Amino acid sequence: MKEEISQLKKNALLSIRNVSDESDLEVLRVSFLGKKGSISNKMRSLGEMSNEEKSEIGPILNDLKNELNKAISEKKAELRKNFINERLRAEWIDITQPPRERKNGSIHPVSQVTEEVIAIFASLGFSVAEGPQIESDWYNFDALNIPQEHPARQEFDTFYIDGNEDNNEAENVLRTHTSPVQIRYMECNQMPCKIIAPGRVYRSDYDQTHTPMFHQVEGLAIDKDITMANLKWILEEFCKVFFELESVDLRFRSSHFPFTEPSAEVDIKCSWANGKLKLGEGNDWLEILGSGMVHPKVLEAAGVNANEYQGFAFGMGIDRIAMLKYGIPDLRSFFDSDLRWLKHYGFRAIDIPSIHSGISNTSIKEK
Ligand code: PHE
Repeated sequence: MKEEISQLKKNALLSIRNVSDESDLEVLRVSFLGKKGSISNKMRSLGEMSNEEKSEIGPILNDLKNELNKAISEKKAELRKNFINERLRAEWIDITQPPRERKNGSIHPVSQVTEEVIAIFASLGFSVAEGPQIESDWYNFDALNIPQEHPARQEFDTFYIDGNEDNNEAENVLRTHTSPVQIRYMECNQMPCKIIAPGRVYRSDYDQTHTPMFHQVEGLAIDKDITMANLKWILEEFCKVFFELESVDLRFRSSHFPFTEPSAEVDIKCSWANGKLKLGEGNDWLEILGSGMVHPKVLEAAGVNANEYQGFAFGMGIDRIAMLKYGIPDLRSFFDSDLRWLKHYGFRAIDIPSIHSGISNTSIKEK
């Protein structure tokens, strides 16, 4: 019996020494010390022994059990340590390596200026309305008092959309201005109203100050006693905040739009000293938008009682005021998708100007 136990001990210690992962070690432990393990079996056989044998073999088996338990837990600690060391070796980070370049996106000046315009008009009580970019003849022209044969239709350089020749439905166009949103808004809302409608518009035109797609913001204020004086005040407030001027000089220059009566183009005072444009000073005038009192025919076309209501409308080029504010010389570069240009003129997300934190953009001024 003693011989057998010492053999068992030898084999057990050897297999424990040779084991190389924790789950194998656990299998071994069970095979020796588990309920049906070899040591436990031997313990059980003590019952059939004589008292002398018992007192001799009992302590030997107990020692063996303790020794194996100790060997197993030491082996376990060793395997853990090896495992951690292996991970440390395999997963180390070379902190001396230069970082990979990460390109940050930036906000396009047109998006930025659109946000600024919305924020300023919101602070003056205007909400935002939208309309489709593919527009029907009716909304883009007829409802705005520009009937089929009106010469003003030619002035717009319209892109027409192929229609179905079999039916007589009105033709669709890419909207040439944001004014159709006036009609759409008045049609399905109660008056009075104060809205702006920023968005894309399209005309077949291309040079330093024209691109076939550009952005406008429409303004519309309808109530019972709105006048052009209200229009002028709103525009002055807007220009002061947007261009960051203490005071502005605006002038109405009489003009003609079929959808307003009277109509006025609005100029802002500026100087061109040394070929550099400065707003708010000097003796020159720069046109920034078209405006007027909404024509009674337009109100009627949108289902608003022209005997009860009146109001003003204006349409301003967003790209144009972005060029003026941020000193961008060529309108076409806005839409070239040149990343170098965007890097220069784009706005970092963490550095967005706002009317609360100061509208001027530090990142551009630093450049
Ligand atoms: N829709 C005109 C344009 O595109 C601008 C405008 C809007 C003029 C509203 C008067 C009133 O030129």
